[in-house]
Parts: sequence; structure tokens; C-alpha cells
Amino acid sequence: PRVPAGKYLTLEQLRDLVRPSPATLVTVLKWLRSHGVEDCRSVATLDFLECGMAASTAERLLPGAEFHRYVKGQRSVVRSPQPYSVPEELAEHVDFGIGGLHRFPAERSAVSRAWAKEGMESRGQRAAFHLGVMPSVIRKRYNMTKGDIGLLPNNSQACAQFLEQYFHQADLAVFMKLFGSSFAHRTEVDRVVGHQGQGRAGLEASLDVEYIMSTGANISTWVFSNAGRHESQEPFLAWLLLLSNMSALPWVHSVSYGDDEDSLSQVYLQRVNVEFMKAAARGLTVLFASGDDGAGCEEGGRGGNHGPFRSGRAYPDLAALSDNYWVVTNRLPLPWVSGTSASTPVVAGMLALINDRRLQLGQPPLGFLNPAL
Ligand SMILES: *[C@@H]1O[C@H](CO)[C@@H](O)[C@H](O)[C@H]1NC(C)=O
Ligand SMILES: *[C@@H]1O[C@H](CO)[C@@H](O)[C@H](O)[C@H]1NC(C)=O
Ligand SMILES: *[C@@H]1O[C@H](CO)[C@@H](O)[C@H](O)[C@H]1NC(C)=O
Ligand SMILES: *[C@@H]1O[C@H](CO)[C@@H](O)[C@H](O)[C@H]1NC(C)=O
Repeated sequence: PRVPAGKYLTLEQLRDLVRPSPATLVTVLKWLRSHGVEDCRSVATLDFLECGMAASTAERLLPGAEFHRYVKGQRSVVRSPQPYSVPEELAEHVDFGIGGLHRFPAERSAVSRAWAKEGMESRGQRAAFHLGVMPSVIRKRYNMTKGDIGLLPNNSQACAQFLEQYFHQADLAVFMKLFGSSFAHRTEVDRVVGHQGQGRAGLEASLDVEYIMSTGANISTWVFSNAGRHESQEPFLAWLLLLSNMSALPWVHSVSYGDDEDSLSQVYLQRVNVEFMKAAARGLTVLFASGDDGAGCEEGGRGGNHGPFRSGRAYPDLAALSDNYWVVTNRLPLPWVSGTSASTPVVAGMLALINDRRLQLGQPPLGFLNPAL
């Protein structure tokens, strides 16, 4: 069903829209129980099940599957080289199928979108033009005045982190001390969902947090820290299921990570798309960095090259400054950080600010942005 503009669903209303029928629940649970599978977790919308079991149980549950452990260097994965089947009476009840059984992690390692320039030559050239982008430059460029800061305690914004990228609160404090004197801001992330490891701060994570909090200044900020990988790439589905399991969420989410579509299975992609639709029905705004060569246009055929051309688009919905940002990471100010990685949290903070004003006026948040654009 179409959700009218601005009339968003609560998590409970969304659950009533997407929850499986009693017949589906009974059929699926009976199938699992008959194989002794009891260790299952669902989400608040009831449309996803995550179950733990031994490989031998999985082989009985999914006839045809034959699990082996494959080892390369330090890495090892459990996979079935054989196709599996599910009992015929289940076919109409199962949507996504069963994830992570067949495909091997891609050789190339997944990357976040931020990158720092190296080499004196490019530094010299750039320095001749300007000293780099910092919050004061962005706020001036986009005509943001001192008054353009968040005022509501109940508005919030978030960025999602993957691939063991962590931010440090101390870096944020140093960043705001160096670059935040001209506007009212917060100096701490209010909530981290998920587990941040002990490691060094990541460039992407530092960049995202520092800049979403500079345009979305004085707005409460969350970080979703997503552990693990999906077939060596970002576990986007796991992050989306987490959103599907939380009733109170920030309205705006910034993601500066990307997957290569052609390396993922169609059923997985479709299920991720369903989760995006669920987020949109709740009024969430989700931004993704397009990648620096245009959406899906990376060199050498990466990123499903054909994708955007096939569907007619090769450019992002929005653009903003993206070159030569200053970032504080592991206590050090680092210049020359570039990418759509940088522009995405900047725009996300602006949208959170617009939401702040809309909420003050009793209007609904922006939600899914594309129709308005
Ligand atoms: C969803 O949240 C509930 C309640 O907090 C929890 O019991 C359940 O395990 C969560 N589901 C998943 C898939 O994490
Ligand atoms: C900049 O913002 C101010 C205050 O909101 C507004 O009056 C002015 O017209 C804006 N200038 C431009 C160039 O948009
Ligand atoms: C910052 O936001 C809080 C609400 O979260 C508000 O009480 C406070 O007045 C704001 N700060 C400024 C300088 O307006
Ligand atoms: C947030 O605060 C504003 C202003 O006090 C209020 O009008 C609005 O209803 C609140 N929104 C939520 C979701 O609590």
C-alpha cells in the first residue's frame, strides 16, 4: 500500500503491514522444530528469523547442502558447494531464502568511501588554490548562520559505520576545539548502537561524525557500529534489521559505504530493498555516498558498471563540497581527505536541521527524500 506523504508508520503499524500470516509462522516454525532448531531470534516486525544450528543440522534442514570449511590464509568460511532445496510446502512462505551458504567472499577487500591524498605533487597543486575545507568553510558556502543549529532535544541524526571503522570521542572534542568556534555544537556522540572495538580510529568514521555534527550542529547524534561482514562486504542487511528492531530512531542516517551490486545475489539485494522500503514507511531519511566516479561507475567494471547505465542514471541525487577536508583522527588533524564520503554526512546534517525546524512547526520529518527532490 502507498503511504501518503508525511503520514509515517510507527514500528507497530509497520509490523502489522509486513508481519507473516499465521499460516506462514506455523509452517516455518514446524519445519524448524522438526529438525530441533530452537535457537531463533526475530525482529519487532516479525518478518525475519535468524537461527543458530550445527552444520549437520543445517544439512538435514536443507536437503542437498553439504557444508565444508574453506581456508585461505587467516580466513576461513563455511560454505556448501552444492545447491540446497527447501520442502515444497515452504516455498510460498520463504522470501529471502537462506543467506551466506554459497558465495565466497570477493577477493578484493571492501572499502569505505573516504580517501586521503598522498604525494607532495598533488598537495602542492591543491595548496595553491585553498587551505582546505573545514566547518566554517562549509557553513559559509551554504549560507548557514549562527542560528542554523538544532534546538530540539527530541531530534537526532546518525551515521552507520562498518568494516571495523571506529570513531573516538576524544578526536571529536579536538576537532570541535580546532574548527567549531564559530557555531554552537555538541562535542559528544550521544549513543553508540553496537560494539566499537578497541582499535585505532578510522578515517571514515572520524570524518562522518565530525562533519554530520558540524552541519547538523547541536543535534543529538548516534553512531551505529556494525561488526562483521556479509561475504566480505558491509553487512547492510544486519544494520537494517537492527533498525527494524528499534522503535525510537534518529530520522536521518548517513552511510558512506558501498557494495558492488554485481557481487551479491538477487535475493539478498531484493531483501535489502524491502528493508529500505520499511525504513521509508517509518519516515527515515537514508543517504548513501554514491562513490567518487558517479553512482556505480568505478573503473574496471567494479560496482555493476552496467547498473546505472542500464537504468538510465549515473549521477547522484545531491552534490556538495567533497574535496580536501580536514579531519581529526587519532588526535591528529589530517588534511586532504576527500570523497562523496565527506559530502554525505554534510548533507545529512543539513537535512537533520531541516527536520528540526519542521518538528518545531509540528510538521512531519522529511522522510524518503526522492519524491521531494
Ligand atoms: C530484537 O530485539 C529483541 C528485544 O530486544 C531481541 O530479543 C531480539 O533478539 C532482537 N532480534 C535480533 C534479530 O537481533
Ligand atoms: C542567506 O541566509 C539569510 C538568512 O537566512 C538570507 O536572508 C539570505 O537571503 C541568504 N542569502 C543567500 C545568498 O541565499
Ligand atoms: C542546543 O539544543 C538543546 C536541545 O537539545 C537546546 O536546549 C539548546 O538551547 C541548544 N543550544 C543553543 C545554543 O541554542
Ligand atoms: C518534539 O518536540 C516538538 C517541540 O517541543 C514537539 O512539537 C514534537 O511533537 C516532538 N516530537 C516528538 C516525536 O516527540
